[in-house]
Order: sequence, then C-alpha cells, then structure tokens
Amino acid sequence: MNSEKSRVGIAGVGTYVPERVLTNLQLQEIVDTSDQWIRSRTGICERRVAADDEAASDLALHASRRALANAGVGPDELDLVIMATNTPDMLFPASACLLQDKLGAKNAGAFDLLAGCTGFIYGMAVASQFIAAGTARNVLVAGSEVLTRILNWKDRNTCVLFGDGAGSVVMTKAPDDRGILSVALGSDGSGGDLLKLPAGGSLFPASTETVARGQHYLQMNGREVFKFAVRAMEDSAGEVLRRAGLTGADVDFLIPHQANTRIIEHAAKKMNLPMDRVAVNVDRYGNTSAASIPLALEESLQAGKIKDGDNVVMVGFGAGLTWAGLLIKWYDYKANNGR
Ligand code: ACO
Repeated sequence: MNSEKSRVGIAGVGTYVPERVLTNLQLQEIVDTSDQWIRSRTGICERRVAADDEAASDLALHASRRALANAGVGPDELDLVIMATNTPDMLFPASACLLQDKLGAKNAGAFDLLAGCTGFIYGMAVASQFIAAGTARNVLVAGSEVLTRILNWKDRNTCVLFGDGAGSVVMTKAPDDRGILSVALGSDGSGGDLLKLPAGGSLFPASTETVARGQHYLQMNGREVFKFAVRAMEDSAGEVLRRAGLTGADVDFLIPHQANTRIIEHAAKKMNLPMDRVAVNVDRYGNTSAASIPLALEESLQAGKIKDGDNVVMVGFGAGLTWAGLLIKWYDYKANNGR
C-alpha cells in the first residue's frame, strides 16, 4: 500500500470503558496469581469488566456517540461504519450493523473487521481508502471488545491480561499537508494457532463436547506471541516510516497496541523515543485488543501530548497473526475550524 494521494484525517475520537474495575488484588482471590507477578511481567494493575447486559455494540455505541459529537458529524452523515472486534455480540449479524442501527446511521454501509488486536489499524486503513477514493466522505471506525466474556478464569496465563473497552474515530478528508502519510499491513496465518478461540465457528460448532474441552475460551501461547510482538512492532514502525520517506527522528508520538509494558518499552527503545512520547494505559485497562489504540489516542489528545502537525505512529499486532503500522501527520480539525 503506498502513501495516500488524497489525505485522510481523524476528525473526532470518543471512548468508553465499563464502570466495573477488577484489580490484580481481586484476581488473586479467584486464580493462582499475584499482583506482583502481573505488574512485573505485564505492567497491568487493573482492568475493566463490562456489565452483564453490555455487549460489544453497546460499548461501541457510547464511544461512537462521543466521537461523532467531537467531530461535529451527525450519524446520518456517515457513509460507512466499520467495527473492529474479536468479541462481536454474535457471529452474525455483524455488530457493525447493530451499531449502525443504534446510532441511527441510516445512510451508512456497515461491516465487522476481524484482525485480532490489529483490527483498529486495519479498520482505519480501510476507511482511509474509501475516503481517498471518494467513495465515502465520513467513516466511523469503532474498536470494541468484551474480552472478559471469552476468558477462562481458571487459566492464569490468559485471564489476567485482558479487559473490556471501546474507542471510535470519525475519519474524513484532511488538507494535503496533513493526515495519513502511510500504512503497512501484514499477516501470517501460519501463526494462527498461537492465539485463537477455536469453537463456535464452522470448524468446531458449539456442542457439549466443545464446551467440556474449554474450546470457547481464548487460548494463547504467550511466550511465542511475545517474541512475535516485539518483532512486529519494530518492523511495522520501520515500514511506515520508510514508506513515507521519514526516519525515527521524525516521530513525535507513538501509540502502540497496549498488551504489555515490556513490549511497548522495547518498541520505544528501538525508535529512540523517551517514554513521555509514548502512550501507555495498559496499567489501567489491560489488553483491550481492538479498542486499545483509540483508548490510548484519546487519552494522549486530552493530555495535550499530540498537537497539530505532529507525526504520530500507531503500531499493533495480534491474532491471525496480523500486524500493522499507520503514520499520521496530526490535523486538529477543531483548531482549524472544523471540516
Ligand atoms: N500469575 C503467576 N504466574 C504466572 C501467571 C500469572 N498470571 N501466568 C503465567 N505464570 C507463570 C507460568 O506458569 C510460568 O511458570 P513456569 O515457569 O513454572 O511454567 C511463569 O509464570 C513464566 O511464564 P512465561 O510465559 O514465560 O512468562 P512471560 O514472562 O513470558 O510472561 C506473558 C507471560 C505476560 C503472557 C507474556 O508472554 C506476554 O505478554 N506475551 C504476549 C501476550 C500478548 O500480547 N497477547 C495479546 C496479543 S494481541 C491479540 O490479538 C489478543
């Protein structure tokens, strides 16, 4: 994928996390783990857990309404709704359609995008192509997860790592000197076994056997995913910079997928970036998969860490295996009097 000719930017961001907090200390009560182990190996202190009546499209609805308000775009002005998720409300219909309905986005097409934790960057890449091609004017990209519903709470290797949350962006045209400069998407399905939820699809349809075997839970080879993640973050960042003709010295801010502080620190080090120019919120939310990048983006914007004209790199990796990078020269729509 080459650099965009017609530029595309992020006109508004919105996020939502459920109220219920689950701390490491509380987890100690339900599984054989410790606050000290979780903090030192992952950087996670607590995560959010959705209420029983909240599904992925509900979390996405809150986040998307906020993104639309921040962008000053009405739901009927959306041409497309893309929802990146690994935990859709159900296999079908697409959660994006449920979100489209709840939002009242009556003029929009809608589809889900499944690319593991990389889904949000994949979603932004797809949205930017539609806008750059002139097929769509405003596209909503939501990343929303209720991962706590697919965790085996007896498996300490996985249940301590993930949390629930959602983040959305409204994407639209940007001026020629701003917006997405380059995108790089990668995949390697030969690593699909490293991180999966085996049952409930056409290969292993839901049955009492699949439930008895625990195949409806997320399964992960953490050590192998860790090795892959470190490589993928570094390669994705390098690739988007190369495609835009820039180097690490040109990067103002890094928004990495939030899985583990050790992985994030490694990526920052490789790019020679001090940690105050890197978004980190895995300590408070755990790994929220497709929601982690928009959650980190909004926090960074609110903290004033990203300014108009900054070169911002987003990098992610996840199930598939998938990985991706996106380089955006930030355009502050509000400061520039809107769209
Ligand atoms: N509490 C206490 N001990 C634990 C826990 C826990 N929660 N989990 C594992 N351990 C133990 C293991 O059993 C193991 O014990 P053993 O040596 O006696 O067998 C020991 O700790 C070390 O286990 P490792 O797997 O080597 O620990 P590591 O330092 O690699 O950390 C971790 C594990 C945190 C999972 C790390 O490998 C990691 O972050 N991997 C990447 C995970 C990731 O990013 N996944 C998301 C991908 S994105 C997506 O698409 C969803």
